[in-house]
Amino acid sequence: MKARGPFHGEVAVPGDKSISHRAVLFAGLATGKSRVRGFLDAEDTMRTVGMMTALGAAVERISPTELRVEGAGLRGLTEPADVIDAGNSGTTIRIGSGILAGQPFLSVVTGDRYLRLRPMARVIRPLTQMGASIWAREGNRLPPICIRGGSLKGIRYEMPVASAQVKSALLLAGLYADSPVTVVETLPTRDHTERMLTAMGAKLDREGGRVTVFPAERLDPMDITVPGDISSAAFFLVLAAVTPGSALIVRRVGVNPFRTGAVDALRRMGADIRYEDERQDGGEPVADIAVRGGRLSATRIDPGEVPGLIDEIPALCVAAAFAEGRTEIRGAGELRVKESDRIGSMVSNLSSLGVSCGEYPDGLWVEGPAELRPSFPCRSHGDHRIAMSLLIFEKAAGMKLAIDDVSCIDTSFPGFKALLEGLA
Ligand code: S3P
Repeated sequence: MKARGPFHGEVAVPGDKSISHRAVLFAGLATGKSRVRGFLDAEDTMRTVGMMTALGAAVERISPTELRVEGAGLRGLTEPADVIDAGNSGTTIRIGSGILAGQPFLSVVTGDRYLRLRPMARVIRPLTQMGASIWAREGNRLPPICIRGGSLKGIRYEMPVASAQVKSALLLAGLYADSPVTVVETLPTRDHTERMLTAMGAKLDREGGRVTVFPAERLDPMDITVPGDISSAAFFLVLAAVTPGSALIVRRVGVNPFRTGAVDALRRMGADIRYEDERQDGGEPVADIAVRGGRLSATRIDPGEVPGLIDEIPALCVAAAFAEGRTEIRGAGELRVKESDRIGSMVSNLSSLGVSCGEYPDGLWVEGPAELRPSFPCRSHGDHRIAMSLLIFEKAAGMKLAIDDVSCIDTSFPGFKALLEGLA
């Protein structure tokens, strides 16, 4: 398969999803008015706005990407009058559960048909250990989830799965506990929660793979500009990297070291990727990312690297299909419980396009460069990152794919298709 292109120019991607969720959740708990600029205006993050509004925070939208949030205070939230709908958003329901576990009232959180199949025991178990009463469907595993919180005690919790959502839920619940909460990670995950809570005046101790949060009376409001989302930028990095002659710059991207595993993997594959104008913004490292296309070769992604590129694996599979040799990704069993089973989703789509690939229980392999079979129908499985990966595959291969549903892209990146189509 010969890649098309080349693609030239500059793109700006929307605000980071993880940081946007946290900004609204934490600003809603602060005492006073926060301002959030660069907010991701997408379905997932608006679910978090809905949750905090239902709990009594006042969120005013100055523009689609700018919010003013009048926090209710850590102990000023009120019982929601109705079931909270987290839509497709795992971050809303899981991190939100940590807040709800601290509240002396009843909350019920549900989601769409995909979210209602995603595992919740990972947050329910430790929050119950802290003293919250939580019920959920199918043996306390699946949403809807029903929480009556309050009177929490501190715990030390060793995380059985690497998950920033679970870590964040426990750190938030820890603000309400009677003694410190310590979370121990075997593999480090994104630390946006630690950075933001510290900036808001909470006391956190970090040492090696361990983070301790101390109970708090209040959080200070914040004034934050959310950087561009590296998980959204990754689609453009891959597209430019696999198309020889391309030269693309993605502006103002968050390059938190716990999020840049895809850049490291692409560099190992031979991609020329540089950070320009590195700076700090909103307590996070930010850079313009310049990428030049060329011929890539296969790589191996080991378990230890997975948390740093977990959301970028579908895009990296596209890079692997254009690269010379067999790329292997292991230790990524978590992909099976994302918005879709991303191992199954990518392998079935790539296979039907003629790409040689296969599954492991905890990963996949892709052998390139592929001989393509055009026009086979592709399925996004209602998963935004699968849909966007298929669209960059289509663009890089210069062929038309029949993708069943791309509306799911709106959960994280409304405007993605237009931006992609506009690339010269
Ligand atoms: C996220 C953490 C990751 C990631 C998700 C966002 C977060 O999930 O896949 O898209 O904002 O904390 P897990 O915590 O399940 O690993």
